[in-house]
Amino acid sequence: MGIGQDFMERTKYQNLPESPQRKGFPQPSLELSCASNVELIDLPDPKEVALPKLDLADLIERRKTLRNYADKSLSLEELSFLLWTTQGVKMVTDRPVVKRTVPSAGSRHAFETYLLVNKVKGLDPGLYRYVSLQHKLFSIKIKADIAKRLAAACLNQSHVYNSAVTFIWVAVPARMTWRYSERGYRYIHLDAGHVCQNLYLAAEAIKCGVCAIAAFDDDAVNKTLNLDGEKMFVIYLASLGKR
Ligand SMILES: Cc1cc2nc3c(=O)[nH]c(=O)nc-3n(C[C@H](O)[C@H](O)[C@H](O)COP(=O)(O)O)c2cc1C
Repeated sequence: MGIGQDFMERTKYQNLPESPQRKGFPQPSLELSCASNVELIDLPDPKEVALPKLDLADLIERRKTLRNYADKSLSLEELSFLLWTTQGVKMVTDRPVVKRTVPSAGSRHAFETYLLVNKVKGLDPGLYRYVSLQHKLFSIKIKADIAKRLAAACLNQSHVYNSAVTFIWVAVPARMTWRYSERGYRYIHLDAGHVCQNLYLAAEAIKCGVCAIAAFDDDAVNKTLNLDGEKMFVIYLASLGKR
């Protein structure tokens, strides 16, 4: 049996180990914390983005992958809108469970959004993380040449380097496996698809294009972001720029 088939077999409900939730372990936190001395960057209200009158069917029809971007910057309002459409928080319930603009199996929401910013007005180029619960960003101090290194880690896909911004979705599997044990890895991959599809459609609405990226060297992208590859790993990326 190949690895893929083995994975499907071993993650059938009847073959799953007992989940941490069943064993009585507490739920992992909804989002990674950030150091108290970190400087958070305010983002404009995502509803401030002036959207052209849009017909949803047209938007869906027009969506296509774009890899050649215009040499134009995104506004902070546009970036704010894209972050909201992909991981925006609508509410946190008492349990607590977070409800976002995208669905997630059992509302586990196992992603953190990192951004490679190349051309966004008001932001220095570099690596950022989205603090979705506050709808803010912070800058991550990282070695220079992050754009070059990330493009290289994505098997030399130059559209990463040429993008206005590249979204990097990082999985924190414990949030998902807490309820679903090993089957949670299936759901993390399914959830990632919803997030990227929202990005494709939202980008279309603001005259941008997107290219989903799953062809990457896992170890190299994780190393670029200082992730251990086990407790946190890059699951999916998407470059984005103006048409
Ligand atoms: C899961 C997934 C992974 C992808 N990975 C890459 C990639 O690494 N590089 C790339 O250039 N395109 C990638 N694409 C884009 C596809 O090649 C593209 O969606 C496909 O050619 C269909 O074109 P369309 O999106 O314009 O309909 C990926 C798309 C998906 C859905």
